[in-house]
Parts: sequence; structure tokens; C-alpha cells
Amino acid sequence: MREIKRIGVFTSGGDAPGMNAALRAVVRSACHRKVLVSGIYRGYEGMIDGEISDLSPRDVGNIIHRGGTILKTARSARFMTAEGRKIAFEQLKQKHIDALVAIGGDGTFAGAQLLYQEHGLPVIGLPGTIDNDLYGTNYSIGFDTAINTAIDAVDKIRDTADAHNRLFLIEVMGRHSGFIALHTAIASGASAMIIPERELDFEWLVADLQGTIDRKKLFGLVIVAEGNPLGSAEDLARRLQDRIREYEVKVTVIGHIQRGGSPTAADRILASRLGHEAVEALLAGSCDCMAGLLSDTIALTPFGQAIGKRNLPDPELIELATILGL
Ligand code: F6P
Repeated sequence: MREIKRIGVFTSGGDAPGMNAALRAVVRSACHRKVLVSGIYRGYEGMIDGEISDLSPRDVGNIIHRGGTILKTARSARFMTAEGRKIAFEQLKQKHIDALVAIGGDGTFAGAQLLYQEHGLPVIGLPGTIDNDLYGTNYSIGFDTAINTAIDAVDKIRDTADAHNRLFLIEVMGRHSGFIALHTAIASGASAMIIPERELDFEWLVADLQGTIDRKKLFGLVIVAEGNPLGSAEDLARRLQDRIREYEVKVTVIGHIQRGGSPTAADRILASRLGHEAVEALLAGSCDCMAGLLSDTIALTPFGQAIGKRNLPDPELIELATILGL
């Protein structure tokens, strides 16, 4: 096993609140172990272009509370080619980087796995995505902040929905995953939710909402996960308005507001624990895996599984959201 004297760290893919806290933990934990750290800017794009500089513990001061990522981020098409990865590896070699910590989602880990397989560079991944869809961790960095942002928005929409007796379809992020929608629906007391992980047809939704009208509910909140098979909140609203006359149907797409903001305590603590673990795991000889949290215990999951499998919402929580939305 080669001695690790310098670790490179980068953030990649969609940013998530808590990435800065993770970066801080990596830099300071490495310093504690007398290992140097280089920050790689703009994810794999900056790796290819050699945008790399030293990071000291002072460089990561005053960032634990900040959303976004001070290292910036990008989605890189060039890194998807073997040629791009070779250039990136040469850049890392030139800067004497012996190992990497990759903070991001499944695309980030797929790239990290290739870097390890093709060039033997040890990499540990940290789950940084608001979507919470990575297998091998109960929670990913940024998810808690994103749902709190969504809940805050739904609470506000609730006030106006109540005042006007309206039905609101509120679209939340999550690409192919319903975690944000499910947790937002439970915590905001929504009438219904539409998520990719639960089969649901349009007629069921109409009947369900008709039921709430029959039960004299004066307004409705439906949380719609983007990427659900029934269509966007806009499309659904148009179709619903044709069928449901009792409510005026309105749409709010919360969008990228969910990606920003100061991380919650839960995200800061998760990011700090996992950032520290990434350094310890690399120094202990682990690599090609993601550090996550399972039942409040840190666990390493091979990249192959973290990418190949999907984190799925607990069916009991789906049932709970349905029962309580009555
Ligand atoms: O993966 C995080 C995420 O915010 C998804 O929920 C969303 O579908 C996507 O990123 C949006 O990506 P972009 O910011 O590139 O439009």
C-alpha cells in the first residue's frame, strides 16, 4: 500500500447544503493526521484543467454554515471519456496527490470508480446530494436542509390555500427519487403525494381528491416529485382542473431554492462525521467505496453497490403519508 501524503478533495454534480462542512472536516481531519490537502475546483472539469491548490485548516474556516460549495462544482462531459480521465490523472500526479475524497452523487462516484479502476488512484466518496437516493446511507448530505426548505415553503402555501379554498400542486426536486416529496408530504401534512416509487394512476388521484372534498376538506396540498411517471405538476394541474370543479387548482414549483441555504444541524453533523471518516478510511487502506451512515453507524459501501443499487423510501412511511393525508 502506498503511503498517503496528500489527499485531493472535490465536489461534483449538483451542489448540496453541507458540502462545505464536509470539506472542512476532510481538511482538518487530514491536518490532524499530518496529511496535506489539495482542493480541486469545479469537480472533474477542474481536475482535467489542473485547477488545484493547497488547502490549509484556515482556508476552510467560516464555511461550516454556508450553502453551495467553495470549491464550485460542475457536470463534466470530458471526464466521461477515457482520454479525459487520463488527463485528469496526469494532473493529479503532477500535484503529488496520492488519494481522493469525492463529494457528490452517483455520477460523481461512477467517475471516481473509473479513476480507481483505470489508474489505481484510491478514492473514498461522500454522499452529497439533496435527492437521498444513494444506496449505503440512510441520509445523504443536503437532504435534511432541502426538506426543511420545502416544508417552510409548503407551510406558507398552506396559508394562502386555506384562505382561498384552493388545491395546490407543489413540485419538489428529486430527479428520479421520491424521498424529498415523501418526507415533505409527511412533515407538512399534505393531502396526497405523487412519487416515482409508488404506482399510482391519474384516476386514483382524482378519486382520492374527490374523497377529500366529500369529507369537507376546504383546501388541498399535493406534493409532486419531479420525474414521477404521471407528469409535471403543471400538466397534472391542467388535467385535474378539468375533473375537479370544487377547487381552483394552482401550481408552485419550488425548484432550486431547495439546493441552497445554510445547512441544518443534522446536515452539518452528518457532513462532519463522514468527512472525518473519509480521511481515516483512506489512511487505513480503504478505497473504491462510499462512507455513509446506516442506523447511526458509519459504514463503507463499495462504489459498485452505491451506484448500482438505489436507496428506496420505507414502504411504512409511504403508507403513513397516505393514512395521515385523509
Ligand atoms: O440531483 C440533485 C438535483 O437537484 C435533482 O433533484 C434535480 O433533478 C437536478 O439536480 C437538477 O439539476 P440541475 O441543477 O443541473 O438543473
